[in-house]
Amino acid sequence: MTHSTNKQALSNPIFTVISDAAKELNIDCYVIGGFVRDFLLKKGTAKDIDIVAIGSGIDLAKKVASKLKGKPEVSVFKNFGTAMIKYNDVELEFVGARKESYHEDSRKPVVEDGTLEDDQKRRDFTINALAISLNETNYGALLDPFNGIQDLEDKILRTPLAPGITYSDDPLRMMRAIRFATQLNFKIEDASLQAITENKDRIKIISKERIVDELHKILASSKPSLGFSLLHKTELLEYILPELTALQGIEEIEGQRHKDNFWHTLEVVDNISENTDNVWLRWAALLHDIGKAPTKRFDKKIGWTFHAHEFIGSKMVAKLFKRLRMPLNDKMKFVQKMVLLSSRPIILSEDFATDSAVRRLIFDAGEHIEDLMTLCEADITTKNPKKQKRYKDNFKLVRQKIVEVEERDHVRNFQPPISGEEIMETFNLKPSKEIGILKEAIKEAILEGEIPNEYEAAYKLMIQKGKSMGFFIEQKS
Ligand code: CTP
Repeated sequence: MTHSTNKQALSNPIFTVISDAAKELNIDCYVIGGFVRDFLLKKGTAKDIDIVAIGSGIDLAKKVASKLKGKPEVSVFKNFGTAMIKYNDVELEFVGARKESYHEDSRKPVVEDGTLEDDQKRRDFTINALAISLNETNYGALLDPFNGIQDLEDKILRTPLAPGITYSDDPLRMMRAIRFATQLNFKIEDASLQAITENKDRIKIISKERIVDELHKILASSKPSLGFSLLHKTELLEYILPELTALQGIEEIEGQRHKDNFWHTLEVVDNISENTDNVWLRWAALLHDIGKAPTKRFDKKIGWTFHAHEFIGSKMVAKLFKRLRMPLNDKMKFVQKMVLLSSRPIILSEDFATDSAVRRLIFDAGEHIEDLMTLCEADITTKNPKKQKRYKDNFKLVRQKIVEVEERDHVRNFQPPISGEEIMETFNLKPSKEIGILKEAIKEAILEGEIPNEYEAAYKLMIQKGKSMGFFIEQKS
């Protein structure tokens, strides 16, 4: 690696400002971590830039800010000895080099000043410990005491220190190892993988939010199964998502076997990742079968059943989101809805799809009908090419039918053609449950295809139905 190549990494003029500021303070500093890694991986130049100072990172940050146009604010995190500046589209993070050790029961480090190499060896992976000098004497030089460059070439994740120390220092790194392996398609060195398995219980001191952050990144990768199978292999998954590990295994009774729903799920997640970047839809794929573990039964006549697993699964989603401190908002509701409806298009595709069944599906899925179809198509994991083709063709037909029915009946964003107020006015009624019954009857008639989704027809039905319920029409004077 030549110096000029690394100077390309420093093309942003901000590096000259940092270099000058450090010179004025008479301290050395380096750009380190993800920025250097991503540059060497030719992933462009990242917007998060980590600077390590051999001295006070906070002082350096303040000096840098004073030299920048507009004098941006410096956010100081005194306890951690770090400071941050947001400038244009970059986020600069400054830290003083440290020799650090951690308390047994938390991630808060005990900070002691150190050299660059002290700092590098306390980082998570050799590929994240690469540093480029910002000092006048060797500006642009790459400092790689732990062979990070070689590891980048070999596509391997290795810790600078013995893995047991690195992971025990900060157990979040176990998740990071698996996340980087998934994002970059790197292998985790065997000794490291073993250390993760040995230290897996230490994950308990990590906040749920940080764990979920890593899960999101694994799920957002092009092949999330790489990460989930590593989480499974190291037994971290048992702690994080026991609902998934409960799906593993094949049981056989009287010669009848069911599929291994854990490995099936991972295939579904990979499949869907080819068709969507929506991480919540990917979550739905990950969780779509979780209700199968608690509902599994063997019936002598019909074999294995998972009765109402979609309903149970959608309830489990809420508990899981709460436990992992994930947002309990519309994202969760979306995942629940996808899980709840996850078998509906499949049932339709296996049989002749009547218009009313399609209308009900569109009504229930609403604006998420496309996402639901994407999920169900990803659920096709049969290895039998004939069946594979048949299922896919059937889904095409269902999709076509959805378009036709929706064009005609507009139930996707269903608005009742007759409002509650109109019902009350027509029959001179006060708010009461009868209004709801009438509205429901109109909706049902539309979904069943007994009347079109139009005002005139709905009005007629309301009169008819209202009369049969003993209501009188209010005469307008
Ligand atoms: N780091 C570490 N241990 C951690 C977190 C971070 O040693 N638990 C170090 C690594 O050197 C890492 C750097 O701090 O490269 C910056 O961390 P961060 O910004 O979280 O990650 P990046 O490596 O920049 O990667 P990404 O942006 O993809 O998270």
